[in-house]
Amino acid sequence: MTDFTSALENSRQQVDAALERYLSAFANPQVPLIQAMRHSALLGGKRLRPFLVYQTGRLFGLTAESLDAPAAAIECIHAYSLIHDDLPTMDNDVLRRGLPTCHVKFGETTAILAGNALQTLAFSILADAEMSEVSPRDRLQMISALASASGADGMCFGQALDLTTNGKQTSVTQLETIHRHKTGALIRAAVRMGVLVAGIHGGPALRYLDRFAAAIGLAFQVQDDILDIVVDSNTDGRRQGTEKRLGKHTYSSLLGLDIARAKAHALYHESLESLEYVAALGYDTALLVALARYIIERDK
Ligand code: IPE
Ligand code: IPE
Ligand code: MG
Ligand code: MG
Repeated sequence: MTDFTSALENSRQQVDAALERYLSAFANPQVPLIQAMRHSALLGGKRLRPFLVYQTGRLFGLTAESLDAPAAAIECIHAYSLIHDDLPTMDNDVLRRGLPTCHVKFGETTAILAGNALQTLAFSILADAEMSEVSPRDRLQMISALASASGADGMCFGQALDLTTNGKQTSVTQLETIHRHKTGALIRAAVRMGVLVAGIHGGPALRYLDRFAAAIGLAFQVQDDILDIVVDSNTDGRRQGTEKRLGKHTYSSLLGLDIARAKAHALYHESLESLEYVAALGYDTALLVALARYIIERDK
């Protein structure tokens, strides 16, 4: 196992333990609503956003435990976004992470509510979690950063644009706007929350880390678009509906595979440039460098 894969596995275990604590604390943990939340928050997933929270915080000497709350909160938002994204009224997907999607397993009503409840759980975690080293002001800033990255200026805006432009002519600029919002905003928020736990509000480290996050956020979605085409739909737990996805706007459908690949590489190099500035400030960025590489090389 490389340092990166073992760090990713550690992040997964760390955030899963935190999510398990939060999801088992409800008064009626056996009800279908909470089973549906568990299905979508705990079963599978790469945990890249929690990894970013943990690794950004680690740059500033923070322990994993002190980053559990923002790491779990952002994964709750991600899980909610996927439940709703898979609904018949959105992408109408039946498989996610190799398992039936939330609405297929639990029904649409429960799936919608599980998404809603995961969203509010994210903010309850940030509001209530023990974070003695974080000032009340920084806690509020974390809540604010996650709210704006998820809502009508962030992920929801990107999703709305994505769904309303489907089947219509789109420009590369429009596509980039969609991707920067539907996927990029949460990735940036993950890094921003890691920095906020360290009590940092400005300065060059935050500026370059934010540039890094913006570049990998877009690279992540460009690679996702590439995988839609190159991954064998029989071996990928989410892409069984490839034919259906062909009508969707993606970098690969708009520009072709070669240009999409070149774009992913350009963004990778942009992210490395930003990390070089962060490293020059004295921080150990090796695992973030490895993550950037993983994002453009991943096959799932
Ligand atoms: C999938 O995200 C949805 C997008 C934003 C493209 P991930 O690829 O991070 O999903 P999991 O959590 O690893 O399943
Ligand atoms: C999902 O994007 C993005 C969010 C849920 C915010 P896609 O619809 O392109 O991703 P997959 O292919 O379903 O994971
Ligand atoms: Mg979608
Ligand atoms: Mg989808």
